[in-house]
Amino acid sequence: MSISAKVLEDLRKRQDEIRAGGGEDKLVQRREKGMMTARDRLDALFQEATFQEMGAHVQHAARHFGMEKKVLPADGVVCGTGYVNGRLVSAFSQDFTVVGGSLGKMQAKKIVALTTQAAKFGTPVVAFQDSAGARIQEGVDALSGYGCVFYQNVLLSGVVPQIAVICGPCAGGAAYSPALMDFVVMTRRNAYMFITGPEVIKAVTGKQVSMEEVGGADMHAAVSGNVHFLAETDAAAIAVGQRLLDYLPSNNSEDPPHRLSQAIAIDEDEGMRALIPEDPQRAMDARGVIDRLVDPGAFLEVHRSFAENLIVGFARIEGMVVGLVANQPTVRAGALDMDASDKGARFIRFCNAFNIPLVTLVDVPGFLPGVDQERDGIIRHGAKMLFAYAHSTVPKVTVILRKAYGGSYIAMCSRELGADFVYAWPNAEIAVMGAEGAVNVLYGKELKTADDPKAKAAELAADYRAKFASPYLSAAKGYVTDVIDPAITRSTVALALRKSLRKRDLRPPKKHGNIPL
Ligand code: HXC
Repeated sequence: MSISAKVLEDLRKRQDEIRAGGGEDKLVQRREKGMMTARDRLDALFQEATFQEMGAHVQHAARHFGMEKKVLPADGVVCGTGYVNGRLVSAFSQDFTVVGGSLGKMQAKKIVALTTQAAKFGTPVVAFQDSAGARIQEGVDALSGYGCVFYQNVLLSGVVPQIAVICGPCAGGAAYSPALMDFVVMTRRNAYMFITGPEVIKAVTGKQVSMEEVGGADMHAAVSGNVHFLAETDAAAIAVGQRLLDYLPSNNSEDPPHRLSQAIAIDEDEGMRALIPEDPQRAMDARGVIDRLVDPGAFLEVHRSFAENLIVGFARIEGMVVGLVANQPTVRAGALDMDASDKGARFIRFCNAFNIPLVTLVDVPGFLPGVDQERDGIIRHGAKMLFAYAHSTVPKVTVILRKAYGGSYIAMCSRELGADFVYAWPNAEIAVMGAEGAVNVLYGKELKTADDPKAKAAELAADYRAKFASPYLSAAKGYVTDVIDPAITRSTVALALRKSLRKRDLRPPKKHGNIPL
């Protein structure tokens, strides 16, 4: 007996109804706003014809407020798997056209089923967030649903990469799911994220604020630090997600997708030498060094607009995937402050969880001095950097480019925090503090009575640099592996990485450490 035409027709009808989401009018409205629909987003993410949907026929379980008779296609979330650049990825996409993409019991169950499978199959998760939050008609079931989603986010943390793409509303407690994921991409238009929005803030505090001020993408990227990547449109956000996946392993038991070349390059790059300003007081732009160090066009910066005094991001060096951490002396002199410490520590811990080697470029005058920093907890925040580096067992290669002073020398992946290789340029200064500051502390009284205090201070500073801050001194004591010509930085780092890719660093067993939060 073959299947009847009627049965097939019924199947097609059901499929069409599900694909129509909240109806043609609503889909058109979304597109007119310049947004993609939930299904458009998945189509754009995955390679053609590779998406397989899960739970398309799932229906909501609400029994009040007239919901009994309502049919909600796919219960407002499209879930499934597909291939991105040849690798399997799990994704869900909330459908705003279906009661605002609101989350109820069954929508949550679908997300939990998808992500449970992602953990078993070892696939990254991409989550398109476009939802009005907890489905009011489902009451505590909706809250429980969110609780289950958050629990899942935590279970998967460190097992498979989780990427949130916020391309619509993401309000109230719902914002905690992206916050529990590894990376958040947000579109500039039509997307907002907050715990309490303008109306609640006005009611409670009397203060009138705009949506952009409390929940806009620019604010989250530059001020709150909740957003790692900004995108103008949905299509651009999806492209960021795809590019990010290209650097990440599918799960924590795999290596990242290295593309090692057979040949080992030993080229010299004289341009690297030319980057160093003659005046030691003049800032050197770390981006120039990064551009010359990594494979052409291979740097994907993370958290670009937040704590710009520290640059973090993924790159390839001779095809090897690395997590790059660099002080940026053109912003706040490259000093480590609270936000930079939070940014660095989180990135380092992601790399460690997913077997991504760390390359650290050091040009740091210290932790940022200031009453605000001390009162707001620079000790607590700065300790995160120390903890994150010391805790990391992935290959760690450090290059001291210029300044490496005080506690920040230690914090920027020094030998003591477990760096496998520490290279220093010959002009590097490694010391308890900068020459001028040290001269002031040690010879301040003498300088007051000197004939020419300025000349004397300069003479003492030069003496200090040679006697106390020279990289050869650190190399003589074994703190620095080698002092290298800047021209061989790329080939030196590449070889060090190649040698350490099979690194094993076993630590005493414990439940987990207690990172300062
Ligand atoms: C059920 C909802 C809904 C909700 C919106 N809708 N929010 N249905 N539960 N939470 C429905 C609307 O009735 C409408 O249905 C459709 O979704 C689209 O909503 P509109 O208001 O017409 O759209 P728009 O004008 O674009 O406004 C979007 C919005 C607004 C700004 C998101 O809908 C809104 O403020 N909603 C409430 C947001 C909220 O307070 N959520 C709860 C947050 S607390 P029809 O049938 O007309 O298409 C929370 C707790 C989580 O989430 C706790 C976790 C720990």
